Amino acid sequence: MRLRLGVLISGRGSNLQALIDAATDPAYPAEVALVISNKPDAAGLERARAAGIATLVLKPKDFADKAEHEAAMIAALESAGVGLVCLAGYMRLLSPVFVSAWLDRLINIHPSLLPAFPGLDTHVRAIEAGARFHGCTVHYVRVEMDTGPILVQAAVPVSDDDTPDSLAARVLEQEHRAYPLAVRLIAEGRVTVGGNRVAVRDSSTPDAVIAPII
Ligand code: GAR
Repeated sequence: MRLRLGVLISGRGSNLQALIDAATDPAYPAEVALVISNKPDAAGLERARAAGIATLVLKPKDFADKAEHEAAMIAALESAGVGLVCLAGYMRLLSPVFVSAWLDRLINIHPSLLPAFPGLDTHVRAIEAGARFHGCTVHYVRVEMDTGPILVQAAVPVSDDDTPDSLAARVLEQEHRAYPLAVRLIAEGRVTVGGNRVAVRDSSTPDAVIAPII
């Protein structure tokens, strides 16, 4: 059976789409089972519906507190038989309770080469810092924001005339390769987490590091 993914979104959902597209190949070892959004107008919900995937909107303000909101998410993920939770532009910080409930079964994609530029506005900050390379990271989630064992990274060059938008577009293209790759490695049972490091068994190209053709 394919690994069942629960994808948490807040917006556009292009990384969700990359996972949906990857799973159209019957040989891909994972499938999106449930999409949860904290925002009713998240465009990603439409992408899920178009693919016939179950969706759920859980608005934090409909719950007494964060604990109850997260308890509802956990219940929905469990009843959908989810084995791996993928954060895909989910813009709320998860509590230690949620993180430990899904420890090592919870991954995130972040638009920088972590540990550089955690947090927001990563493309602006990479340009302002004069970074020559930028990129994206898929990592296991830990309580502190944008930390956790790194699974896959993809690097892109920063050009002298890049704007935050042009750089974001170049990184996003790599995000759409990196996330399906990271999920595949996990679903194939090739990933071991030890401390802050990830080991990938039987690594062959293309694998845990993606070096795009420049
Ligand atoms: C992506 O660039 C993702 O890396 C970023 O939000 C965007 C969501 O786009 N995530 C974060 O910044 C989380 N710290 P998408 O909705 O089109 O996938």
